[in-house]
Amino acid sequence: MANKSVQVKKWRWIIFVVLIAVGLVGAVCSVVLMPMMTELIFDTVVTNMMVLNPSSAIYPDWKDPPLPLYSSFYFFHVENPDAIVMNQRPVVAEKGPYVYRIEVPRANVTFHGNGTLSSAQMYKYIFEPSLSVGPETDTFTLINPVAVSTTILAKDFPKAVKRQLSLQMVELNETVFMNRSVAEILWGYEDGFISLANKYFSIPGWDTDLFGLLWGRNNSDLGVYTVYDGTEDQSMLNTFDRFNGRTELDWWFSPEANMLNGTDGTMYHPYISRDEKLELFHPDVCRSLPYLYEKDMNFKGVPLFKFVLANYTYANGTVHPPNEGFYREDMWAPSGC
Ligand SMILES: *[C@@H]1O[C@H](CO)[C@@H](O)[C@H](O)[C@H]1NC(C)=O
Ligand SMILES: *[C@@H]1O[C@H](CO)[C@@H](O)[C@H](O)[C@H]1NC(C)=O
Ligand SMILES: *[C@@H]1O[C@H](CO)[C@@H](O)[C@H](O)[C@H]1NC(C)=O
Ligand SMILES: *[C@@H]1O[C@H](CO)[C@@H](O)[C@H](O)[C@H]1NC(C)=O
Ligand SMILES: *[C@@H]1O[C@H](CO)[C@@H](O)[C@H](O)[C@H]1NC(C)=O
Ligand SMILES: *[C@@H]1O[C@H](CO)[C@@H](O)[C@H](O)[C@H]1NC(C)=O
Ligand SMILES: *[C@@H]1O[C@H](CO)[C@@H](O)[C@H](O)[C@H]1NC(C)=O
Ligand SMILES: *[C@@H]1O[C@H](CO)[C@@H](O)[C@H](O)[C@H]1NC(C)=O
Repeated sequence: MANKSVQVKKWRWIIFVVLIAVGLVGAVCSVVLMPMMTELIFDTVVTNMMVLNPSSAIYPDWKDPPLPLYSSFYFFHVENPDAIVMNQRPVVAEKGPYVYRIEVPRANVTFHGNGTLSSAQMYKYIFEPSLSVGPETDTFTLINPVAVSTTILAKDFPKAVKRQLSLQMVELNETVFMNRSVAEILWGYEDGFISLANKYFSIPGWDTDLFGLLWGRNNSDLGVYTVYDGTEDQSMLNTFDRFNGRTELDWWFSPEANMLNGTDGTMYHPYISRDEKLELFHPDVCRSLPYLYEKDMNFKGVPLFKFVLANYTYANGTVHPPNEGFYREDMWAPSGC
């Protein structure tokens, strides 16, 4: 009896030990495997999501970026135009913001079948009265850009031509200062001098009598973007291959400055790390811009990394040698220009 009870006890022990061992192995397995499994599943999901094709999860957000974009405009209203003409110091008052919401849906999406696709981003500007200090009809006194740039251009013209030109300007009511509304300044107003110039010369790309800082920009695109779809190399998702068919720019003065780096800023690759440099090319600034990690942030419980424009972006070649190519030799300038 005693013997049997010892044996039973021993069995119990063995079973107990085995159970514990199994339990432990199970626990260890679940501790080790569960994250591995979730990571694997997560990776697979991310890999399938984060590519640019019409059936991927991110495609609709890439095609029609849902994040609200705003552009704010400020104007310097000249308070003493008559005094300035008499050589007095200008007095100006900043007016603004006048805010436009920008929608940037992509048009003409073309898949090239080799891991790249092309599209054109349509820019649509919608005035936002609730975010602006006043309506688009607010009117300010500003420097007349057409009159002033014509005067500067004509600086070295022969005297007789200059005299003729200034008579024309008077006849066309071109004065150094002008009163124009926000809508006119941005989207265009009829300028007598441009109408006249159009009659005699054809200015390439200028088939209108209107002048406006954003003339022709509403409902038009800034060029054809060809980007990688992220299938071959995830880190290249939405990265530029070409802009208007070219793999580099030709506006700057070194191959480095002319490089077409990064994305258009609407989407980057998954698994961004803090020590990465993100780059953004935008046709408005005609160059690629570097962004560096600043800090961790949180939006509704979602952890985020905040990237900001690198402090050396507009440094000159003395301060930041790679920027040398952004300055023509005879046009060197202090940092920040
Ligand atoms: C899309 O392609 C059509 C036909 O080639 C062209 O007329 C149109 O301007 C293009 N749209 C954009 C936004 O580039
Ligand atoms: C992909 O194909 C397009 C159209 O055939 C071609 O222009 C482009 O150079 C190719 N790009 C790459 C990265 O192979
Ligand atoms: C831009 O065009 C859209 C129509 O596509 C129009 O609703 C909007 O008012 C226009 N924006 C401006 C600033 O004229
Ligand atoms: C210039 O202003 C005068 C007086 O306001 C006006 O009669 C004339 O039509 C204007 N000329 C032009 C070209 O706008
Ligand atoms: C602009 O408007 C102000 C105030 O109405 C007026 O005194 C001034 O003569 C105008 N300036 C021009 C260049 O039309
Ligand atoms: C583009 O990237 C290369 C390699 O990282 C870098 O050397 C170059 O300065 C960058 N150029 C621009 C304009 O961002
Ligand atoms: C940018 O910031 C870094 C570190 O904060 C500093 O070492 C560097 O001198 C700055 N560069 C410029 C051009 O301001
Ligand atoms: C670059 O900027 C710095 C600081 O603003 C200035 O001291 C330096 O003279 C500038 N270099 C050139 C070549 O203009």
